[in-house]
Amino acid sequence: MGSWSRTVLILFLTISAAVLSTPLINKLQPDKEWPQLVKQPSQDESAETISEKSKGGLAVELVNGQHLAETVKKTEPEDSENEDDVSADIISKCLIEAKDDFQKVDYTGAQLWKVSTEKNGWRVVLNRLRRRNLISTWGTNGTSIDILVQPNAIQNVTNALNREKIHFEIIIEDLQARINQENPPLDENEIELQDRRGHRMNWKQYHRLEDIYGFLDYLAKTYPAIVSVKSIGNSHEGREIKLLRISNGNPKNKAVFIDGGIHAREWISPATVTYYINQFAENFDVEDDDIKNIDWYFVPVLNPDGYEYTHLKDRLWRKNRKPGAGRCSGVDLNRNFGYRWGGKGTSNSPCDEIYRGPRAFSEPESKAIQDFFKSSASEFSAYLTYHSYGQYILYPWGYDNAVPPDHLDLNAVGKKMATAIKSTGDDNYSVGSSSNLLYPAAGGSDDWAKSIGIKYTYTIELNDRGFYGFVLPTQYIEPVAKESLAGLRVLAAAVHTA
Ligand code: ARG
Ligand code: ZN
Repeated sequence: MGSWSRTVLILFLTISAAVLSTPLINKLQPDKEWPQLVKQPSQDESAETISEKSKGGLAVELVNGQHLAETVKKTEPEDSENEDDVSADIISKCLIEAKDDFQKVDYTGAQLWKVSTEKNGWRVVLNRLRRRNLISTWGTNGTSIDILVQPNAIQNVTNALNREKIHFEIIIEDLQARINQENPPLDENEIELQDRRGHRMNWKQYHRLEDIYGFLDYLAKTYPAIVSVKSIGNSHEGREIKLLRISNGNPKNKAVFIDGGIHAREWISPATVTYYINQFAENFDVEDDDIKNIDWYFVPVLNPDGYEYTHLKDRLWRKNRKPGAGRCSGVDLNRNFGYRWGGKGTSNSPCDEIYRGPRAFSEPESKAIQDFFKSSASEFSAYLTYHSYGQYILYPWGYDNAVPPDHLDLNAVGKKMATAIKSTGDDNYSVGSSSNLLYPAAGGSDDWAKSIGIKYTYTIELNDRGFYGFVLPTQYIEPVAKESLAGLRVLAAAVHTA
């Protein structure tokens, strides 16, 4: 066993021990969907032990992880069924994982380019480059697509685009430099403050899973009358998938479900969802009636394995961490849900970024969501899933160019949300059906939620519009979360008037 696997195992055993020895101390609303399995905060030293262990692991990693160019080898592409769909937000990036357990994937010299899609032929060119693993694709809008160009491919890609007279701009010269600057450590004062507060969460940094979960548990302990936390399942690697509920217990309440972190590298998503949680839990008494009279369900990190992996190994990992039979691992959870699973914009190749998995709900993370909704007695009026990036408010359908019968309602509320966001933080969000505005992609959580009858179902693509892409610096967390909360308030009002 490698030292990394050993660290993971020790961590897992420690967490399991902590969880098993944790007493249930929370008072619950007596309702169906909130039964036996409530996990409450562990206040004992085991939490400290976990933290020291994981920090230890990270320290070793930093010491050993000199920036080794070319630790990452590309594989040959494997054919996928919808290969022509280059507009998927990223496809066919397959990495052989670094041999040394402690090496991080290094993006030194890799660049982000914005490529114009206004001239026909871009699709063919980019597809060819992608198949040769010279590029992968990130976000897209009506007139351009962002591509990540491998350092050794810059000349090739330049020539290919020039030959076809396809215009492009270099947006990020060195991705690794941006990654290094993205999430600076806190100073001593802040660390002391955190310990006094009882949790380590803030919105000035992107946090490890442990801090996020510690924060959820802290809220459940501090506000037992309205907040409770439970686990709705475990990831492939055995991490809990924690759900936090905020409710005043009013039996007439409608319910709203919000998740974040389906895609591992979209760090602004868990940061934003935890911002909402903090706002509602800490200020519940003075919150608007619209907010108070909704049962809120939050899963801030639906893909905890992937999320930790982006902190420890590969900042740009998207999928979960299901081990592959061959050399490629991970399933795109947002292609694994059970409505029209396997359709357009999905891949059957484990090496692809949009690999849909062997069957619908094959993954414990997506299955956990399905199971939760099955067992819940709440009446859900809305399902929101937070992603990045692009600044979109998207409604179904995603699987193909079609809209549900009530699409005018979805569009109207979406537009109002966008207006509220704009007047709060001045960012522009585009509203429309996801197949139309982005690209068809089947097996998304939004389509599935809509298919089980949840009216206001949206995928929100948070900031930005492709200047930082997934590597959004920490000073953006608060403004992005704050303005998007204004959008969420509009949604809450719509839930009451529906
Ligand atoms: N960026 C998201 C993805 O590619 C968009 C999902 C939109 N929803 C959908 N069902 N296609 O996963
Ligand atoms: Zn995403």
